[in-house]
Amino acid sequence: FKAPAIDNEPMRGYGIGSPERAGLQAALLEMEQQLPFEVPCIVNGEEIRTGKLAKQPLPHDHANHLCTYHEADEATVAAAIEGALAAKAGWESMPWNDRAAIFLKAADLVSGKYRYKLLAATILGQGKNVWQAEIDAAAELADFFSFGVKFVEELYSQQPSKNAAGTWNRSEYRALEGFVLAVSPFNFTAIGGNLPGTPALVGNVVVWKPSPAATYSNYLVHKILVEAGVPAGVIQFVPGPPAEVVAQAIAHREFAALHFTGSTFIFKKLWKDIASNLDVYRGYPRIVGETGGKNFHLVHKSAEVRNAVIQTVRGAFEYQGQKCSALSRLYVSKSLWENGFKHQLLEEVAKIKVGPPQDWSNFMGPVIGRPAYDKILDYVKKAKDAGGEVLIGGTGDDSKGYFIQPTVIETKDPKSVTMVEEIFGPVLTVYVYNDEDLDQTLELIDTTTDYALTGSIFSTDRNILIKATNRLRNAAGNVYYNEKCTGAVVGQQPFGGARGSGTNDKAGSISIFYRFVSARSIKENF
Ligand code: SER
Repeated sequence: FKAPAIDNEPMRGYGIGSPERAGLQAALLEMEQQLPFEVPCIVNGEEIRTGKLAKQPLPHDHANHLCTYHEADEATVAAAIEGALAAKAGWESMPWNDRAAIFLKAADLVSGKYRYKLLAATILGQGKNVWQAEIDAAAELADFFSFGVKFVEELYSQQPSKNAAGTWNRSEYRALEGFVLAVSPFNFTAIGGNLPGTPALVGNVVVWKPSPAATYSNYLVHKILVEAGVPAGVIQFVPGPPAEVVAQAIAHREFAALHFTGSTFIFKKLWKDIASNLDVYRGYPRIVGETGGKNFHLVHKSAEVRNAVIQTVRGAFEYQGQKCSALSRLYVSKSLWENGFKHQLLEEVAKIKVGPPQDWSNFMGPVIGRPAYDKILDYVKKAKDAGGEVLIGGTGDDSKGYFIQPTVIETKDPKSVTMVEEIFGPVLTVYVYNDEDLDQTLELIDTTTDYALTGSIFSTDRNILIKATNRLRNAAGNVYYNEKCTGAVVGQQPFGGARGSGTNDKAGSISIFYRFVSARSIKENF
């Protein structure tokens, strides 16, 4: 089997008057007219209505909700695990080309038939504007499935390079024994697809707990996988109270791996819980996680100001700063700051329109929910209390939806709270450094937090780019030159960070697939 040539899903422009805009507009209107939807658990291909109901509110209009969903109860989670284990033998022994065909078809359904519906669910339910939804629920989701096929094919072709006379050696990449638990976040519909999809591609069965705030779009992703041919039981969809569902799954003897994206706090807790259950398991579970970030831009005096300003605005405020890769600490040279950077930055931020995400003119939509709204504004207060100066923004309006103005804070203390802690919202803190203090600034970038996800260096001087890259060797898993620190593309920039940001197994690359297989070496004599 040889997979067809794979390329990144092209992004659509949705220009005024385009058929794409008309198509998406129609899908949005239809969804708005039909909501709220009812979402069951899906276990062994069957819809389970537990009657334990929860709601996914619209972040831009919290009096209404996108869906009501049935939370998985204990019996449902137990049935999901048992059903997954029962489906395992058939799935892992399915010929690879048949499994590959399923995921290629899923990519096709994402890019075609379901595109506008997925986008509408992501826009309304998770508060993304059209272009942010397109990057995520169309392009990246399709890429995870189609490139996944290519990566697995590469993985399976990794074979021993030497056979002694009269022998033949081969490597077999078995699925893990047991089941994988996937726990996905609200902020990328694509990650909802990737967390169960990646382990399933290599023959694992998966119990998938989506984020409560992304239930409906993730339910659609599950529907697509089923329509593409993923057999009943292979990926079980169990929305539910996170603590209970996860605790029940990781207490099971057959728990084989955790595939997680979410907060550092929860990831550390799960790691400890898994450790304390070690005697329950047959083996050592794989723990794969991508967590938070406190991502930086370093703007050197040699940088091109206009580009650095635009990239900074995009990195910090696209999707309201709710990307693990979002920019939140800016280190900018004093001479640039005073000679145009500050002025241009504030001018661009002042132009940002904040409002309902389905209104095509809004650059920013709402933040995801009440706890996020309160936490973000609390950080603004803490920054002010610590002597930070709010240069623009700093306010919110939660009367109808959870809207927060893009906020820029200047601090004289490079270790103040909003330079250190992840906020996950539209708050950028700026530290202006003296041009001659580059070395101290590099030291600060490296040592101010334990996060190490993404970072960008802006300079027109190659020597500075190299010097900073070397000094910041461990400060980010994804580094960009003269470009914002968000927007890694599957197959182009393998994504992930180390230190407190995760296990750095690189989503969107072959690397992550190694974590979900257990290799076997077979030596044959003739
Ligand atoms: N992969 C995304 C980015 O790079 C974040 O999850 O922005």
